Amino acid sequence: MSKSMKVAVIGSGYVGLVAAVCFAEIGHEVICIDNDESKVQALQGGDSLIHEEYLTELLDRYRNKAVTFTTNLADATKACDVVFIAVGTPQSETGDADLSYVESVTSEIARSITKYTVLVEKSTVPVYTNEWVTRTLQRNGVKRELFDVVSNPEFLREGTAVSDFLHPDRIVVGSDSKRAADLLEALYLPLTSGEYYNRIDAIGGHCSAAAPPQLLLTSTKSAEIIKHASNAYLAMKISFINSVANLCEATDANVEQVARGIGLDARIGPRFLSPGIGYGGSCFPKDVAAFRSVAEHLGLDFGLLKEVQKVNELQLQRFFAKVRSAMWTLRGKKLAVLGLAFKGGTDDIRDSPAIELVKMLLAEGCVVTAYDPAATTRAKAVLPPSHEMRYAADAYEAASGADALLVLTDWKDFAHLDLDKLGKVMQYPTVVDGRNIFDPEKMAAHGFHYLSIGRPGVYPERIQ
Ligand code: UGA
Repeated sequence: MSKSMKVAVIGSGYVGLVAAVCFAEIGHEVICIDNDESKVQALQGGDSLIHEEYLTELLDRYRNKAVTFTTNLADATKACDVVFIAVGTPQSETGDADLSYVESVTSEIARSITKYTVLVEKSTVPVYTNEWVTRTLQRNGVKRELFDVVSNPEFLREGTAVSDFLHPDRIVVGSDSKRAADLLEALYLPLTSGEYYNRIDAIGGHCSAAAPPQLLLTSTKSAEIIKHASNAYLAMKISFINSVANLCEATDANVEQVARGIGLDARIGPRFLSPGIGYGGSCFPKDVAAFRSVAEHLGLDFGLLKEVQKVNELQLQRFFAKVRSAMWTLRGKKLAVLGLAFKGGTDDIRDSPAIELVKMLLAEGCVVTAYDPAATTRAKAVLPPSHEMRYAADAYEAASGADALLVLTDWKDFAHLDLDKLGKVMQYPTVVDGRNIFDPEKMAAHGFHYLSIGRPGVYPERIQ
Protein backbone atom coordinates (compact mmCIF):
# COMPACT_ATOMS: atom_id res chain seq x y z
CA MET A 1 0.00 0.00 0.00
CA SER A 2 1.54 3.32 -1.05
CA LYS A 3 1.85 6.24 1.34
CA SER A 4 0.84 9.84 0.77
CA MET A 5 3.79 12.20 0.53
CA LYS A 6 4.17 15.98 0.62
CA VAL A 7 5.30 17.28 -2.74
CA ALA A 8 6.23 20.78 -3.88
CA VAL A 9 6.09 21.60 -7.58
CA ILE A 10 7.70 24.87 -8.66
CA GLY A 11 6.19 26.30 -11.83
CA SER A 12 2.57 26.13 -12.96
CA GLY A 13 3.21 25.89 -16.68
CA TYR A 14 2.26 22.89 -18.84
CA VAL A 15 4.62 20.50 -17.06
CA GLY A 16 4.34 21.82 -13.49
CA LEU A 17 0.57 22.14 -13.40
CA VAL A 18 -0.05 18.72 -14.94
CA ALA A 19 2.51 17.10 -12.61
CA ALA A 20 0.91 18.82 -9.59
CA VAL A 21 -2.63 17.59 -10.29
CA CYS A 22 -1.42 14.12 -11.28
CA PHE A 23 0.58 13.70 -8.07
CA ALA A 24 -2.63 14.62 -6.22
CA GLU A 25 -4.55 12.12 -8.37
CA ILE A 26 -2.22 9.33 -7.20
CA GLY A 27 -2.71 10.26 -3.56
CA HIS A 28 -0.11 12.88 -2.64
CA GLU A 29 -0.46 16.28 -1.02
CA VAL A 30 0.85 18.92 -3.38
CA ILE A 31 1.86 22.56 -3.12
CA CYS A 32 2.25 24.22 -6.51
CA ILE A 33 4.38 27.37 -6.42
CA ASP A 34 4.58 30.12 -9.01
CA ASN A 35 6.10 33.59 -8.64
CA ASP A 36 3.36 35.04 -10.86
CA GLU A 37 0.76 36.24 -8.37
CA SER A 38 -1.96 36.62 -11.03
CA LYS A 39 -1.50 33.00 -12.18
CA VAL A 40 -1.71 31.75 -8.61
CA GLN A 41 -4.88 33.74 -8.01
CA ALA A 42 -6.43 32.48 -11.24
CA LEU A 43 -5.63 28.87 -10.32
CA GLN A 44 -6.99 29.32 -6.79
CA GLY A 45 -10.14 30.88 -8.22
CA GLY A 46 -11.03 28.10 -10.64
CA ASP A 47 -9.22 28.94 -13.89
CA SER A 48 -7.26 26.08 -15.53
CA LEU A 49 -5.07 28.50 -17.55
CA ILE A 50 -4.32 25.99 -20.32
CA HIS A 51 -6.38 23.76 -22.58
CA GLU A 52 -5.52 20.18 -21.64
CA GLU A 53 -7.74 17.09 -21.59
CA TYR A 54 -8.79 16.04 -18.02
CA LEU A 55 -7.03 19.04 -16.45
CA THR A 56 -10.21 20.93 -15.58
CA GLU A 57 -11.77 17.81 -14.03
CA LEU A 58 -8.70 17.10 -11.90
CA LEU A 59 -8.37 20.73 -10.85
CA ASP A 60 -12.04 20.78 -9.85
CA ARG A 61 -11.42 17.69 -7.77
CA TYR A 62 -8.21 18.77 -6.00
CA ARG A 63 -7.97 22.56 -6.16
CA ASN A 64 -7.37 24.15 -2.73
CA LYS A 65 -7.57 20.64 -1.20
CA ALA A 66 -4.91 18.11 -2.25
CA VAL A 67 -3.36 20.78 -4.49
CA THR A 68 -2.82 24.26 -3.11
CA PHE A 69 -1.37 27.19 -5.03
CA THR A 70 0.99 29.75 -3.56
CA THR A 71 3.82 32.18 -4.30
CA ASN A 72 5.60 31.25 -1.09
CA LEU A 73 8.47 28.98 -2.09
CA ALA A 74 10.19 29.10 1.30
CA ASP A 75 7.20 27.73 3.24
CA ALA A 76 6.55 25.08 0.59
CA THR A 77 10.18 23.88 0.71
CA LYS A 78 10.05 23.60 4.48
CA ALA A 79 6.76 21.67 4.37
CA CYS A 80 7.77 19.10 1.73
CA ASP A 81 10.24 16.20 1.42
CA VAL A 82 10.53 16.45 -2.30
CA VAL A 83 10.67 19.60 -4.44
CA PHE A 84 10.15 19.41 -8.21
CA ILE A 85 11.64 22.15 -10.35
CA ALA A 86 9.37 22.61 -13.36
CA VAL A 87 10.23 26.15 -14.42
CA GLY A 88 10.90 27.21 -18.00
CA THR A 89 14.22 26.51 -19.71
CA PRO A 90 13.82 28.65 -22.84
CA GLN A 91 16.25 28.74 -25.71
CA SER A 92 18.94 31.42 -25.46
CA GLU A 93 20.28 33.27 -28.49
CA THR A 94 23.15 30.81 -28.81
CA GLY A 95 20.83 27.77 -28.90
CA ASP A 96 21.73 26.72 -25.34
CA ALA A 97 19.01 26.20 -22.76
CA ASP A 98 18.70 29.32 -20.59
CA LEU A 99 18.93 27.98 -17.05
CA SER A 100 18.58 31.27 -15.19
CA TYR A 101 15.14 30.35 -13.78
CA VAL A 102 16.48 27.01 -12.56
CA GLU A 103 19.38 28.79 -10.91
CA SER A 104 17.27 31.43 -9.22
CA VAL A 105 14.77 28.95 -7.73
CA THR A 106 17.68 26.76 -6.57
CA SER A 107 19.19 29.72 -4.69
CA GLU A 108 15.80 30.48 -3.17
CA ILE A 109 15.29 26.84 -2.12
CA ALA A 110 18.76 26.85 -0.55
CA ARG A 111 17.66 29.51 1.92
CA SER A 112 14.78 27.34 3.16
CA ILE A 113 16.24 23.84 3.48
CA THR A 114 16.10 22.85 7.13
CA LYS A 115 15.84 19.05 6.82
CA TYR A 116 16.76 16.38 4.23
CA THR A 117 15.13 17.41 0.94
CA VAL A 118 15.23 15.89 -2.52
CA LEU A 119 15.34 18.37 -5.39
CA VAL A 120 14.06 16.98 -8.64
CA GLU A 121 14.78 18.38 -12.10
CA LYS A 122 11.53 17.99 -14.03
CA SER A 123 12.24 20.75 -16.56
CA THR A 124 14.20 19.72 -19.64
CA VAL A 125 17.80 20.52 -18.78
CA PRO A 126 21.18 19.72 -20.32
CA VAL A 127 23.53 17.14 -18.86
CA TYR A 128 25.54 18.44 -15.90
CA THR A 129 22.63 20.58 -14.61
CA ASN A 130 22.36 18.40 -11.50
CA GLU A 131 26.00 19.21 -10.75
CA TRP A 132 25.31 22.93 -11.08
CA VAL A 133 22.24 22.65 -8.85
CA THR A 134 24.32 20.76 -6.27
CA ARG A 135 27.08 23.38 -6.43
CA THR A 136 24.58 26.24 -6.12
CA LEU A 137 23.02 24.71 -3.01
CA GLN A 138 26.42 24.19 -1.42
CA ARG A 139 27.57 27.69 -2.35
CA ASN A 140 24.52 28.99 -0.55
CA GLY A 141 25.57 27.16 2.60
CA VAL A 142 23.39 24.02 2.48
CA LYS A 143 25.18 21.04 4.01
CA ARG A 144 25.69 18.17 1.52
CA GLU A 145 23.93 15.64 3.76
CA LEU A 146 20.75 17.78 3.75
CA PHE A 147 19.90 17.26 0.09
CA ASP A 148 20.11 15.16 -3.06
CA VAL A 149 19.45 16.20 -6.64
CA VAL A 150 17.56 13.83 -8.90
CA SER A 151 16.67 14.01 -12.58
CA ASN A 152 13.14 12.81 -13.35
CA PRO A 153 12.41 13.98 -16.88
CA GLU A 154 8.87 14.28 -18.16
CA PHE A 155 7.75 12.74 -21.43
CA LEU A 156 4.26 14.15 -21.61
CA ARG A 157 2.82 15.55 -24.81
CA GLU A 158 0.64 18.62 -24.80
CA GLY A 159 -2.98 17.75 -25.42
CA THR A 160 -2.63 14.31 -23.82
CA ALA A 161 -0.41 15.37 -20.92
CA VAL A 162 -2.58 14.05 -18.09
CA SER A 163 -2.99 10.56 -19.54
CA ASP A 164 0.70 10.52 -20.56
CA PHE A 165 1.61 11.25 -16.93
CA LEU A 166 -0.67 8.59 -15.50
CA HIS A 167 0.03 6.04 -18.24
CA PRO A 168 3.71 6.58 -19.01
CA ASP A 169 5.75 4.35 -21.35
CA ARG A 170 8.41 4.56 -18.66
CA ILE A 171 9.34 6.60 -15.60
CA VAL A 172 13.00 7.62 -15.62
CA VAL A 173 14.65 8.41 -12.30
CA GLY A 174 18.28 9.49 -12.47
CA SER A 175 19.81 9.45 -9.03
CA ASP A 176 23.28 8.95 -7.66
CA SER A 177 21.89 8.50 -4.15
CA LYS A 178 20.03 5.42 -2.93
CA ARG A 179 18.09 7.43 -0.36
CA ALA A 180 16.74 9.82 -3.01
CA ALA A 181 16.00 6.99 -5.47
CA ASP A 182 13.99 5.16 -2.77
CA LEU A 183 11.97 8.30 -2.13
CA LEU A 184 11.14 8.73 -5.82
CA GLU A 185 10.25 5.04 -6.09
CA ALA A 186 7.83 5.47 -3.19
CA LEU A 187 6.35 8.56 -4.84
CA TYR A 188 5.54 6.67 -8.05
CA LEU A 189 4.48 3.45 -6.31
CA PRO A 190 0.74 4.00 -6.92
CA LEU A 191 1.54 3.76 -10.65
CA THR A 192 4.37 1.18 -10.68
CA SER A 193 2.52 -1.18 -8.32
CA GLY A 194 -0.60 -0.98 -10.51
CA GLU A 195 -2.67 0.20 -7.51
CA TYR A 196 -3.93 3.35 -9.28
CA TYR A 197 -5.34 1.41 -12.24
CA ASN A 198 -7.62 -0.63 -9.97
CA ARG A 199 -9.43 2.50 -8.90
CA ILE A 200 -12.91 2.81 -10.34
CA ASP A 201 -12.37 6.51 -11.12
CA ALA A 202 -8.87 6.07 -12.62
CA ILE A 203 -8.26 7.97 -15.83
CA GLY A 204 -8.04 5.46 -18.65
CA GLY A 205 -5.00 4.69 -20.77
CA HIS A 206 -2.70 1.90 -21.87
CA CYS A 207 -1.34 0.95 -18.41
CA SER A 208 -3.27 -1.40 -16.14
CA ALA A 209 -2.87 -3.21 -12.83
CA ALA A 210 -1.62 -6.19 -14.83
CA ALA A 211 0.72 -4.07 -16.97
CA PRO A 212 1.89 -1.12 -14.86
CA PRO A 213 4.63 1.22 -16.04
CA GLN A 214 8.28 0.45 -15.41
CA LEU A 215 10.51 2.77 -13.39
CA LEU A 216 13.99 2.89 -14.85
CA LEU A 217 16.75 3.85 -12.41
CA THR A 218 19.79 5.51 -13.99
CA SER A 219 22.58 7.89 -13.08
CA THR A 220 21.56 11.56 -13.02
CA LYS A 221 23.60 12.34 -16.13
CA SER A 222 22.06 9.45 -18.08
CA ALA A 223 18.56 10.66 -17.16
CA GLU A 224 19.38 14.18 -18.34
CA ILE A 225 20.65 12.79 -21.64
CA ILE A 226 17.65 10.44 -22.01
CA LYS A 227 15.31 13.44 -22.09
CA HIS A 228 17.24 15.35 -24.75
CA ALA A 229 17.99 12.22 -26.77
CA SER A 230 14.31 11.16 -26.76
CA ASN A 231 13.08 14.48 -28.11
CA ALA A 232 15.94 14.69 -30.63
CA TYR A 233 15.18 11.15 -31.84
CA LEU A 234 11.46 11.91 -32.27
CA ALA A 235 12.28 15.12 -34.16
CA MET A 236 14.65 13.11 -36.34
CA LYS A 237 11.88 10.62 -37.09
CA ILE A 238 9.63 13.48 -38.24
CA SER A 239 12.33 15.07 -40.42
CA PHE A 240 13.05 11.64 -41.87
CA ILE A 241 9.44 10.98 -42.87
CA ASN A 242 9.11 14.53 -44.21
CA SER A 243 12.11 13.88 -46.46
CA VAL A 244 10.59 10.56 -47.57
CA ALA A 245 7.30 12.39 -48.24
CA ASN A 246 9.12 14.79 -50.56
CA LEU A 247 10.59 11.83 -52.39
CA CYS A 248 7.13 10.26 -52.68
CA GLU A 249 5.76 13.48 -54.12
CA ALA A 250 8.50 13.57 -56.73
CA THR A 251 7.71 9.99 -57.78
CA ASP A 252 3.91 9.94 -57.40
CA ALA A 253 4.20 7.36 -54.63
CA ASN A 254 2.11 7.58 -51.47
CA VAL A 255 3.89 8.37 -48.18
CA GLU A 256 1.06 6.88 -46.14
CA GLN A 257 1.68 3.48 -47.71
CA VAL A 258 5.42 3.92 -47.29
CA ALA A 259 5.10 4.94 -43.62
CA ARG A 260 2.88 1.94 -42.95
CA GLY A 261 5.31 -0.33 -44.74
CA ILE A 262 8.32 0.82 -42.76
CA GLY A 263 6.43 1.29 -39.50
CA LEU A 264 5.37 -2.36 -39.45
CA ASP A 265 9.01 -3.23 -38.85
CA ALA A 266 9.03 -3.56 -35.06
CA ARG A 267 12.49 -2.02 -34.99
CA ILE A 268 11.10 1.18 -36.51
CA GLY A 269 7.52 1.32 -35.18
CA PRO A 270 4.53 3.15 -36.67
CA ARG A 271 4.39 6.25 -34.46
CA PHE A 272 5.81 9.67 -35.27
CA LEU A 273 5.83 8.91 -38.96
CA SER A 274 3.17 11.44 -39.96
CA PRO A 275 4.53 13.92 -42.47
CA GLY A 276 3.39 17.51 -42.28
CA ILE A 277 4.54 21.11 -42.30
CA GLY A 278 7.37 20.43 -39.85
CA TYR A 279 7.49 19.98 -36.11
CA GLY A 280 6.93 22.91 -33.76
CA GLY A 281 5.95 23.57 -30.18
CA SER A 282 7.84 24.56 -27.09
CA CYS A 283 9.97 21.40 -26.96
CA PHE A 284 11.36 19.92 -30.18
CA PRO A 285 12.84 23.07 -31.76
CA LYS A 286 14.40 24.20 -28.48
CA ASP A 287 15.55 20.76 -27.35
CA VAL A 288 17.18 19.79 -30.67
CA ALA A 289 19.07 23.10 -30.58
CA ALA A 290 20.06 22.62 -26.94
CA PHE A 291 21.21 19.01 -27.46
CA ARG A 292 23.30 20.10 -30.44
CA SER A 293 24.78 22.84 -28.34
CA VAL A 294 25.60 20.40 -25.51
CA ALA A 295 27.53 18.28 -28.04
CA GLU A 296 29.34 21.34 -29.39
CA HIS A 297 30.41 22.41 -25.91
CA LEU A 298 31.86 18.94 -25.46
CA GLY A 299 33.80 19.27 -28.71
CA LEU A 300 31.54 16.82 -30.55
CA ASP A 301 29.97 17.37 -33.95
CA PHE A 302 26.38 16.06 -33.81
CA GLY A 303 25.86 17.03 -37.46
CA LEU A 304 22.83 14.76 -37.77
CA LEU A 305 20.84 17.18 -35.61
CA LYS A 306 21.78 20.08 -37.87
CA GLU A 307 20.23 18.17 -40.79
CA VAL A 308 17.12 17.46 -38.72
CA GLN A 309 16.72 21.21 -38.14
CA LYS A 310 17.41 22.06 -41.78
CA VAL A 311 14.84 19.57 -43.11
CA ASN A 312 12.31 21.00 -40.67
CA GLU A 313 12.86 24.58 -41.79
CA LEU A 314 12.68 23.62 -45.47
CA GLN A 315 9.47 21.66 -44.94
CA LEU A 316 7.53 24.83 -44.15
CA GLN A 317 9.09 26.61 -47.13
CA ARG A 318 8.08 23.70 -49.36
CA PHE A 319 4.50 23.90 -48.10
CA PHE A 320 4.44 27.62 -48.79
CA ALA A 321 5.65 26.93 -52.33
CA LYS A 322 2.90 24.32 -52.69
CA VAL A 323 0.25 26.86 -51.69
CA ARG A 324 1.68 29.30 -54.21
CA SER A 325 1.69 26.65 -56.94
CA ALA A 326 -1.98 25.88 -56.23
CA MET A 327 -2.93 29.57 -56.39
CA TRP A 328 -0.64 30.78 -59.20
CA THR A 329 -0.25 34.20 -57.50
CA LEU A 330 -0.86 35.07 -53.86
CA ARG A 331 -1.42 38.83 -53.64
CA GLY A 332 -5.03 39.59 -52.72
CA LYS A 333 -6.05 35.92 -52.49
CA LYS A 334 -8.58 35.02 -49.80
CA LEU A 335 -7.30 32.05 -47.87
CA ALA A 336 -9.05 30.05 -45.16
CA VAL A 337 -6.74 28.59 -42.53
CA LEU A 338 -7.78 25.68 -40.34
CA GLY A 339 -5.61 25.41 -37.25
CA LEU A 340 -3.14 27.78 -35.60
CA ALA A 341 -1.92 25.68 -32.65
CA PHE A 342 1.39 23.83 -33.15
CA LYS A 343 -0.61 20.58 -33.16
CA GLY A 344 -4.17 19.40 -32.48
CA GLY A 345 -5.55 19.13 -28.96
CA THR A 346 -3.78 22.16 -27.52
CA ASP A 347 -4.13 25.95 -27.41
CA ASP A 348 -0.34 26.35 -27.49
CA ILE A 349 1.03 28.42 -30.37
CA ARG A 350 4.67 28.55 -29.26
CA ASP A 351 6.88 27.90 -32.30
CA SER A 352 3.78 26.91 -34.25
CA PRO A 353 4.54 26.32 -37.94
CA ALA A 354 0.93 27.36 -38.63
CA ILE A 355 1.50 30.83 -37.20
CA GLU A 356 4.75 31.12 -39.14
CA LEU A 357 3.00 30.19 -42.37
CA VAL A 358 0.20 32.71 -41.80
CA LYS A 359 2.85 35.41 -41.31
CA MET A 360 4.43 34.43 -44.63
CA LEU A 361 1.03 34.57 -46.38
CA LEU A 362 0.23 37.99 -44.92
CA ALA A 363 3.63 39.26 -46.03
CA GLU A 364 2.69 38.18 -49.58
CA GLY A 365 -0.52 40.22 -49.46
CA CYS A 366 -3.04 37.44 -48.80
CA VAL A 367 -6.21 37.96 -46.79
CA VAL A 368 -6.43 35.21 -44.19
CA THR A 369 -9.46 34.01 -42.25
CA ALA A 370 -8.42 31.53 -39.58
CA TYR A 371 -10.26 29.13 -37.33
CA ASP A 372 -8.79 27.14 -34.46
CA PRO A 373 -10.93 25.31 -31.88
CA ALA A 374 -8.75 26.44 -28.93
CA ALA A 375 -5.84 28.68 -29.92
CA THR A 376 -7.63 31.77 -31.26
CA THR A 377 -7.21 33.90 -28.15
CA ARG A 378 -3.47 33.21 -27.98
CA ALA A 379 -3.10 33.66 -31.74
CA LYS A 380 -4.71 37.12 -31.61
CA ALA A 381 -1.84 38.29 -29.42
CA VAL A 382 0.72 37.58 -32.16
CA LEU A 383 -1.52 38.03 -35.22
CA PRO A 384 -3.84 40.89 -34.24
CA PRO A 385 -7.19 40.97 -36.05
CA SER A 386 -7.18 43.37 -39.01
CA HIS A 387 -8.64 43.71 -42.49
CA GLU A 388 -6.12 41.12 -43.74
CA MET A 389 -6.14 38.87 -40.66
CA ARG A 390 -9.60 37.70 -39.68
CA TYR A 391 -10.85 35.08 -37.26
CA ALA A 392 -13.87 32.86 -37.77
CA ALA A 393 -16.12 31.09 -35.26
CA ASP A 394 -16.01 27.79 -37.17
CA ALA A 395 -14.44 26.08 -40.18
CA TYR A 396 -17.31 26.87 -42.57
CA GLU A 397 -17.25 30.56 -41.71
CA ALA A 398 -13.47 30.57 -42.34
CA ALA A 399 -13.98 28.83 -45.69
CA SER A 400 -16.78 31.12 -46.80
CA GLY A 401 -15.81 32.85 -50.05
CA ALA A 402 -12.22 31.53 -49.86
CA ASP A 403 -10.05 30.97 -52.93
CA ALA A 404 -8.44 28.04 -51.08
CA LEU A 405 -8.47 26.37 -47.71
CA LEU A 406 -5.25 25.37 -45.92
CA VAL A 407 -5.14 22.75 -43.16
CA LEU A 408 -2.28 23.63 -40.82
CA THR A 409 -3.09 21.81 -37.56
CA ASP A 410 -4.22 18.20 -37.11
CA TRP A 411 -7.33 18.84 -35.01
CA LYS A 412 -9.40 15.63 -35.06
CA ASP A 413 -12.65 17.55 -35.73
CA PHE A 414 -11.36 18.86 -39.06
CA ALA A 415 -11.38 15.34 -40.51
CA HIS A 416 -15.14 15.14 -39.95
CA LEU A 417 -16.16 18.33 -41.72
CA ASP A 418 -19.11 18.14 -44.12
CA LEU A 419 -17.22 18.22 -47.43
CA ASP A 420 -20.30 19.11 -49.52
CA LYS A 421 -21.01 22.08 -47.30
CA LEU A 422 -17.34 23.11 -47.32
CA GLY A 423 -17.11 22.98 -51.12
CA LYS A 424 -20.32 24.99 -51.49
CA VAL A 425 -19.28 27.89 -49.27
CA MET A 426 -15.86 28.30 -50.91
CA GLN A 427 -15.25 30.49 -53.93
CA TYR A 428 -13.04 27.74 -55.45
CA PRO A 429 -12.91 24.20 -54.01
CA THR A 430 -9.13 24.09 -53.51
CA VAL A 431 -7.69 22.50 -50.36
CA VAL A 432 -3.99 22.37 -49.48
CA ASP A 433 -3.69 19.98 -46.57
CA GLY A 434 -0.49 20.27 -44.53
CA ARG A 435 -1.49 17.46 -42.18
CA ASN A 436 -2.99 14.82 -44.48
CA ILE A 437 -6.26 14.76 -42.57
CA PHE A 438 -8.46 14.16 -45.63
CA ASP A 439 -8.69 11.12 -47.86
CA PRO A 440 -7.66 12.05 -51.45
CA GLU A 441 -10.29 9.74 -52.98
CA LYS A 442 -13.06 11.35 -50.96
CA MET A 443 -11.81 14.80 -51.88
CA ALA A 444 -11.86 13.78 -55.54
CA ALA A 445 -15.41 12.45 -55.19
CA HIS A 446 -16.47 15.82 -53.72
CA GLY A 447 -14.89 17.73 -56.59
CA PHE A 448 -11.98 19.28 -54.75
CA HIS A 449 -8.61 20.27 -56.14
CA TYR A 450 -6.66 18.69 -53.32
CA LEU A 451 -2.96 18.79 -52.50
CA SER A 452 -1.46 17.12 -49.45
CA ILE A 453 1.97 15.97 -48.23
CA GLY A 454 3.72 13.08 -50.00
CA ARG A 455 0.56 11.83 -51.73
CA PRO A 456 -0.52 12.27 -55.34
CA GLY A 457 -2.56 15.44 -55.87
CA VAL A 458 -6.22 15.43 -56.90
CA TYR A 459 -7.05 17.60 -59.93
CA PRO A 460 -10.75 17.46 -60.89
CA GLU A 461 -11.32 17.90 -64.60
CA ARG A 462 -13.44 21.01 -64.28
CA ILE A 463 -10.57 23.06 -62.91
CA GLN A 464 -7.70 21.51 -64.83
C1 UGA B 1 7.03 16.45 -27.20
C2 UGA B 1 7.30 14.95 -26.95
O1 UGA B 1 6.49 14.15 -27.81
C3 UGA B 1 7.05 14.58 -25.50
O2 UGA B 1 7.42 13.22 -25.27
C4 UGA B 1 7.88 15.50 -24.60
O3 UGA B 1 7.64 15.25 -23.23
C5 UGA B 1 7.54 16.94 -24.90
O4 UGA B 1 7.81 17.22 -26.29
C6 UGA B 1 8.39 17.82 -24.01
O5 UGA B 1 9.63 17.76 -24.10
O6 UGA B 1 7.85 18.48 -23.12
P1 UGA B 1 4.84 17.92 -27.66
O7 UGA B 1 5.80 19.02 -28.02
O8 UGA B 1 3.72 18.22 -26.74
O9 UGA B 1 5.64 16.67 -27.00
O10 UGA B 1 4.17 17.41 -29.01
P2 UGA B 1 4.37 16.20 -30.03
O11 UGA B 1 3.12 15.43 -30.07
O12 UGA B 1 5.60 15.48 -29.80
O13 UGA B 1 4.48 17.02 -31.40
C7 UGA B 1 5.58 17.90 -31.65
C8 UGA B 1 5.49 18.46 -33.06
O14 UGA B 1 5.77 17.42 -34.01
C9 UGA B 1 4.13 19.01 -33.44
O15 UGA B 1 4.29 20.18 -34.21
C10 UGA B 1 3.49 17.89 -34.26
O16 UGA B 1 2.53 18.34 -35.16
C11 UGA B 1 4.72 17.34 -34.99
N1 UGA B 1 4.59 15.93 -35.40
C12 UGA B 1 4.44 14.94 -34.49
C13 UGA B 1 4.66 15.62 -36.75
O17 UGA B 1 4.81 16.51 -37.62
N2 UGA B 1 4.57 14.30 -37.13
C14 UGA B 1 4.43 13.29 -36.23
O18 UGA B 1 4.36 12.11 -36.66
C15 UGA B 1 4.36 13.62 -34.87
